[in-house]
Amino acid sequence: MCKFLYLYIYIMFRDYVNNNGNNVDILYKNMYEKQNYQGKKHIISKLKYDKKYKIKDLFLLLNKVIDSSDPDTDVVQTEHCYETAQAIKNNYFIDNNLKEINIRDLFTNEEWFLLDKKYKKMYDTRIDKLYKDVKNWSWLILVGLIHDLGKVLVLEEFGKFDEWFSVGDIYPLGCEFHKSNIFYEKNYHKQNIDYNNSEYNKILGIYDYEVGFDNVEMTFSHDYYLSECLKHSETNLPYEALYIIRYHSFYSWHTPKNNIRGYEYLASETDWKYLPLLKLFQKSDLYSKKNDFYKKFDIDYFDNLIDKYIQYPISM
Ligand SMILES: [Fe+2]
Ligand SMILES: [Fe+2]
Repeated sequence: MCKFLYLYIYIMFRDYVNNNGNNVDILYKNMYEKQNYQGKKHIISKLKYDKKYKIKDLFLLLNKVIDSSDPDTDVVQTEHCYETAQAIKNNYFIDNNLKEINIRDLFTNEEWFLLDKKYKKMYDTRIDKLYKDVKNWSWLILVGLIHDLGKVLVLEEFGKFDEWFSVGDIYPLGCEFHKSNIFYEKNYHKQNIDYNNSEYNKILGIYDYEVGFDNVEMTFSHDYYLSECLKHSETNLPYEALYIIRYHSFYSWHTPKNNIRGYEYLASETDWKYLPLLKLFQKSDLYSKKNDFYKKFDIDYFDNLIDKYIQYPISM
């Protein structure tokens, strides 16, 4: 196989095939069997957001975390954060401005083929044009830097949550589990208490058609946790930044392995509008993990971004 084609395949997809029966498989088994609607409601009712942490101190804590849901890496999480930020800066920016990025290029051919005409039309443009209200995109690099800080949930001082409550892909609770979720074919979700609940186990479950993901109870995870921490804090981050953080692990929606988009019936127009943003982010979240291209980090630049957007300690 051509060296570059091999590299492309290697970096664009998460290698779950060779991870059967290991930590990844066990983690998803636990997640699909144990995460449930009432459980999520109970956890979030206990969160207080009454402790303050500086972003830089959170990086020190994150160094203690290894995410076994991630089949592609055993690097410390801080390194992954720096690599993701650097990849976003290198891939998408030129002279501190967002490059011209065609949205069509973010989709596979099959995904594009399956898209409704309405969204093909919406996406027939560039990122900067679809989100024309965004004048300065530098926060996107900062999102790369901080997007996984919520993984501190597994540490003692944050409640020592099990990994299946903290890391891995996220998906809606209170409705039918979609076939586009990873490991769907293993049927772990059928052991879940919600599977036998006739109210939850319907396509829409407890939700209205196109209700919008912000109105859906997603599985508890580092995505939800960090986005809520930031909402409870004083920052200069725009809604788009919080949206990426909240849904960056929603793979069955933004990057389904089978190219069939999950949970379309719950998505609002806002979710469709921000889908290209999630796809843009995802390509750098993974891209950085399997190579040594970005070992040189613009640390001072990143520090300035923290000072610009998150001046005060955040509530956790
Ligand atoms: Fe993540
Ligand atoms: Fe990540």
